[in-house]
Amino acid sequence: MAGLDVRGAVAVVTGGGGGIGAALCARLAGAGARVVVNDSSADAAEAVAASAGGICLPGDAADPGVVAALVAEGERLGGVDLFCANAGVISQDWDLAWRVNVLAHVLAAEAVLPHWLERGRGRFLATVSAAGLLTLLGNPAYSATKHAALAHAEWLRATYAHRGVTVQALCPQGVRTAMLTGGPLVESAVTPEFVADTVMAALDGAGFLVLPHPEVAEYHRRRAADPDRWLAAMNKAQRAAESG
Ligand SMILES: NC(=O)c1ccc[n+]([C@@H]2O[C@H](COP(=O)([O-])OP(=O)(O)OC[C@H]3O[C@@H](n4cnc5c(N)ncnc54)[C@H](O)[C@@H]3O)[C@@H](O)[C@H]2O)c1
Repeated sequence: MAGLDVRGAVAVVTGGGGGIGAALCARLAGAGARVVVNDSSADAAEAVAASAGGICLPGDAADPGVVAALVAEGERLGGVDLFCANAGVISQDWDLAWRVNVLAHVLAAEAVLPHWLERGRGRFLATVSAAGLLTLLGNPAYSATKHAALAHAEWLRATYAHRGVTVQALCPQGVRTAMLTGGPLVESAVTPEFVADTVMAALDGAGFLVLPHPEVAEYHRRRAADPDRWLAAMNKAQRAAESG
């Protein structure tokens, strides 16, 4: 699988009004891409689109009508080359977490795939989380929906790789955005710009896992090698958190 030539490419970014999505829009535009910026906050999407010289298309990324409009706009610009399913919530509300963290990715893939299969190329970047490879203590809805988003991305890649569709899963740990309001990940948190730089390098290739925190690969390996030991260590961390 070849890398994506970002110059002149059309990229759709959901949740592009802030945090990682806004940094992605800036980097993509800086590299010559035309960016369609989506966010549930119209003001935020407008501000990022203005500074990226892109197009603002606000709305809920889990709304089928909004997703259809995003893909239609990208096609109008010449064809969606990259869809960044990036919007996400860390809510404890299972329904909201399911809709934004998983269903939005499913809808995006369903809307854009017919175009990509016809052209024989396309790239889907799913913003998942290290929580999708490991877990996030204290938030079952986030952990489970991010696992589901990763499973969906794996399924897409396994099903469509031979038809020119490249799927990548971005799995950061802590990132200094509005989402990261506290907790144990703050110390090691990286900036959204660092994450966007990692993505830009990953777009030049085709590796499935995009890991701004390389240590996550080792945690993932340990979890797979000995799940009981890994879960015992996680429970130890939980007990430490409970005892303050
Ligand atoms: N910040 C972290 O530590 C971290 C770590 C791992 C993964 N992530 C993931 O990265 C992605 C971006 O998160 P962030 O840290 O930049 O958070 P953020 O809160 O700074 O930005 C998320 C953006 O998504 C928008 N949004 C929320 N729901 C939406 C919806 N239904 N439709 C459209 N837009 C919506 C918000 O308005 C916001 O602008 C999320 O999927 C998140 O789960 C974040």
